[in-house]
Amino acid sequence: MSDLPMMRAALCERFGDASAVRVAEVPRPVPGNGEVLVRIHASTLDSADRRIRALDMPPGFGPMARLAFGFRRPRQPILGTALAGVVEAVGPGTSRFRPGDAVVASTGAAQGCHAGYRVIAERKAIAAKPAALGFEEAAAVIFGGMTARYFLEEKAPVTPGETVLVIGAGGAVGVAAMHLARAAGATVTACCSAGKANWVQSHGAGGVIDYRSPDWFSAHEGVFDLVVDTVGAMPARQAARLARPGGTLVVASASLWDLLALPMLKALTGRVVVGGMVPDEAEGLARVMAHAEAGRLRPAIGARVPLERIGEAHALIDGGHKTGSIVITMG
Ligand SMILES: NC(=O)c1ccc[n+]([C@@H]2O[C@H](COP(=O)([O-])OP(=O)(O)OC[C@H]3O[C@@H](n4cnc5c(N)ncnc54)[C@H](OP(=O)(O)O)[C@@H]3O)[C@@H](O)[C@H]2O)c1
Repeated sequence: MSDLPMMRAALCERFGDASAVRVAEVPRPVPGNGEVLVRIHASTLDSADRRIRALDMPPGFGPMARLAFGFRRPRQPILGTALAGVVEAVGPGTSRFRPGDAVVASTGAAQGCHAGYRVIAERKAIAAKPAALGFEEAAAVIFGGMTARYFLEEKAPVTPGETVLVIGAGGAVGVAAMHLARAAGATVTACCSAGKANWVQSHGAGGVIDYRSPDWFSAHEGVFDLVVDTVGAMPARQAARLARPGGTLVVASASLWDLLALPMLKALTGRVVVGGMVPDEAEGLARVMAHAEAGRLRPAIGARVPLERIGEAHALIDGGHKTGSIVITMG
């Protein structure tokens, strides 16, 4: 038995379904040079965690995923890309944060947030938690907020009066995209399952499209200034047709083939098509928190699950129809 202080953590030691994750006692990390140790109060279980756990990537990304995340089993057994908590200790050479500071962080592909503690370099995506938000609320806006903000502010800025269609509006990225589009002065139509109609309207959707209704696509071809596809159920060439000629399609989830073809898609479709990986940057996280503090981005928590029962959250996300963010509480 180690003499190091221990912590609870959810370990994913093989690629697979929800049963691949178990909660165990592991050594608590120690902050090194330029690092802070955060005691985590809340995290989230997101689509990125499910993709890594199940090794279920968009078409074409499978071999790269094994390189990035591990060949036989996850290289980083602790999943989780978002945290809200309190700085417990700081290593030498730190200046931005002190013990007792309430913070949020986005760890991206490095993961490691489904645990009692995590060490993070203070030059990475870590920011002060707005006092107006609780830990669970702050954690809930990180993953969807980082993604939606990157696309709707940097890659395809929304302007007042635009019409925006969000496909996958009931998920973490979709609901954040609706909030930011509304805050920018656009009118929003949500595309989701029928059971989420009231929920998406409570998050800013003016119109709602049930993606299971047979004629929905043909009824909306060429209608929108901007289409944000967070699902990737159809090729980008097809989704682009929902935008008006000269309009824009954002593909948050796209096959490798679609991403490679992005430069050609404008010529092929007459629409601008943008996609790519969302960077985990401190500046982006700070902007997400500013939006949340100002109410432009609102926490949309579909479920709260304690770390000890995180398997239930993994089973929920495997259903493919989760609502907003699943918050993992550390108790
Ligand atoms: N590019 C990047 O760097 C980046 C970053 C983050 C996330 N992503 C990707 O973005 C995607 C969305 O992430 P997320 O976290 O928002 O996922 P999520 O929270 O699991 O939400 C997905 C939503 O899509 C809905 N849905 C399922 N099939 C649909 C369909 N055919 N049409 C419309 N809606 C459908 C689901 O509920 P209902 O079926 O009940 O409506 C669910 O609400 C993921 O594929 C993820 O990998 C990419």
